[in-house]
Amino acid sequence: MRRAVKPPRDFFWGPITGHALSLRKSRLSYMYACLKQYGDFIEMYLGKQRTLLVNDPAGLKYVLLDNGKNYPKNTPGYKRVAEVLGQGVFTDVGEEWKIGRKAIQPTFNPSKFDHYFSIVADETQKTINQIKDNAKINRSINISSWSTRYALHVIGRSLLNETLEDSFNIISKNLSHLIDLTEKKMTYITPIKTLFKWRLEKDFNSTLKVLDDEIIKIIANEKQKVRSPKENMLHALFDSPMNFSDKKILSQVKTMIFAGHETTANVITWAFYFLSLHPQWQEKIFSEFKDHDFSITSEEDLKTFSSINLFLNEVLRMRPPAWSFGRVAIAKDRIHDEEINAGDLISISPFLIHHHPDFWENPEDFMPERFLKAPAPFTFIPYGAGQRICMGERLANLEMCMFLLHAIKEFTFTFSSQTINVQMNAQVSLRPDQAIYLDVEVRK
Ligand code: HEM
Repeated sequence: MRRAVKPPRDFFWGPITGHALSLRKSRLSYMYACLKQYGDFIEMYLGKQRTLLVNDPAGLKYVLLDNGKNYPKNTPGYKRVAEVLGQGVFTDVGEEWKIGRKAIQPTFNPSKFDHYFSIVADETQKTINQIKDNAKINRSINISSWSTRYALHVIGRSLLNETLEDSFNIISKNLSHLIDLTEKKMTYITPIKTLFKWRLEKDFNSTLKVLDDEIIKIIANEKQKVRSPKENMLHALFDSPMNFSDKKILSQVKTMIFAGHETTANVITWAFYFLSLHPQWQEKIFSEFKDHDFSITSEEDLKTFSSINLFLNEVLRMRPPAWSFGRVAIAKDRIHDEEINAGDLISISPFLIHHHPDFWENPEDFMPERFLKAPAPFTFIPYGAGQRICMGERLANLEMCMFLLHAIKEFTFTFSSQTINVQMNAQVSLRPDQAIYLDVEVRK
């Protein structure tokens, strides 16, 4: 019999809040503590809302793949994300999602990847050169900011024909602020209209307007250009027989900018964090790259570098940017031996399954060699699984590998004195709680 374990509710307020107060303090720490204490199949309550935390491989396979149609994405969490991104391929469900995904899919066809490779190679070179110039004046660099700039340029040029250079500050600053505000809105659940809540809404709406206006400008600009049909994602949307409305196009573009840069930039930043903590990996990756005469002429070449692939997998295991996401049951069902009712929330956490002690030896230790052996199915899901699996995995991997390899080729890194005691900030995505500054030394 496999029933969900029920941890005790919040102290004193539990009959009203369920587990919401414990989660509010720190969602990730509380969920991780519960995994360690109560296991991988848990029942919780957010107020009256029943929520099952499913974080075992068989349960994950069932929810994401085998009976995925009973568990769509219209959760309160995704509804909050949709307030920022609008209804796009990330947040849509049902027929609307199918139509959007089908229209965007050609953007990620294998035939596009030679073109993406050249964009990624070019942006990598440009960014590395800029860091080099910067390092001549100031040894200390803010790698969080460089990663974001790089990821935004790649996604802009690949999908929208735009480097987004002129819009960089507006997009990154406002998107980042909106993510913080969304997290506040998610955890500030009182139904009473307080002054704080009113200010939060006002700030949210004005920030969203600035972001939307900027992206509308980019779309309008691209619409005017002479172009060949379906050249990039934006054109695929303009030319689609589905006649997407301007609002829908705005949502799809925002979705891709957000999903395509925030995640990748965070992984690159965490990768530099782990490279600085484990300098032996800088040398391991460097010497392998050197043995190949530092040459990468195609995406295929990247597969021959085992160290960087082991290393990146371990970074994704330790710090999956999409560390938690949800589903909602639409009909009565059974997960293991637990009855599920329509309306129950299912919480899935790549972070938790990546730290599950039954599947990962010393899960808190950074050990890229562990990936010499393929992980068991549904124990490593940084890109999700099933029909809603990430669309950008291949592009993200290309981007991250190229940037890290070339950065390691040119520099060595150590933490700057202002980077101390870096912690995880688990919001909509899993970021470091501070900008990471590194001292870079150009290799002789
Ligand atoms: C390291 C980088 C990335 C990670 C770890 C990542 C992770 C994920 C995860 C876990 C999901 C599934 C969420 C769920 O099932 O609820 C997802 C969905 C998605 N990702 Fe990514 N992602 C990354 C990069 C990208 C990039 C570069 C793009 C676009 C260029 C992208 C576009 C999308 C889209 C459109 C979806 C929604 C797919 C759907 O629901 O049909 N992602 N991603």
